[in-house]
Amino acid sequence: MNEKGFFITLEGIEGVGKTTNMDFVHKQLVAAGKDVILTREPGGTSLGEDVRNLLLGHKHDGMSSETELLLMFAARAEHLSKVIMPAVMDGKVVLCDRFTDATYAYQGGGRGIPTRRIQELEQWVQGGTRPDMTFLLDLPVEVGLERAGKRSAADRFEKEDMAFFQRVRDRYLQLAAEYPQRFRVIDASKPLDDVQQQISNALQEILN
Ligand code: TMP
Repeated sequence: MNEKGFFITLEGIEGVGKTTNMDFVHKQLVAAGKDVILTREPGGTSLGEDVRNLLLGHKHDGMSSETELLLMFAARAEHLSKVIMPAVMDGKVVLCDRFTDATYAYQGGGRGIPTRRIQELEQWVQGGTRPDMTFLLDLPVEVGLERAGKRSAADRFEKEDMAFFQRVRDRYLQLAAEYPQRFRVIDASKPLDDVQQQISNALQEILN
């Protein structure tokens, strides 16, 4: 993005510690005097949160992969035009829990939708807009799922099997290798202090 603000995203499979580390990144940015907007996908707007409920709830368990993909981008279009772009244009830092890399990983890697289909929608909905920096919290699937399993009832994605999440993780790592300038891969299997040190080091690049 070449506007005045900055757009940061956090990604990873379930159980990598996204919530804890979002909070950490947020605090670091605020401490550095940044005006930060915290948001998430799917969601981030009133319409987007309704779409999130459709996507994560079990009412539409048999939803087709194409419907799922289009709903992700419908929520994203609203989020970009109502929240992300206005904030970035206003010089703010937008910190977003998941974005289009999750679509490549879950709908592409996980569900098997061809990459070019996702690229077409990305181009249509986002034009040239991409995050400035993406943290990929990475750890082995078994570890993530065990951690996530200890939380509340599984949503429509969390009930997928190990092979699905392995494909999701592989696609995330593939994206990180493809876009090394944008991605910071964080080894989330390490103790929290270590994870947060890795995040802090990467954040210094922006803060300096
Ligand atoms: P979470 O952000 O609370 O972890 O849950 C959101 C779920 O939605 C998560 O399982 C990943 C999934 N998701 C996709 O499948 N595609 C997407 O584009 C996004 C943003 C999320």
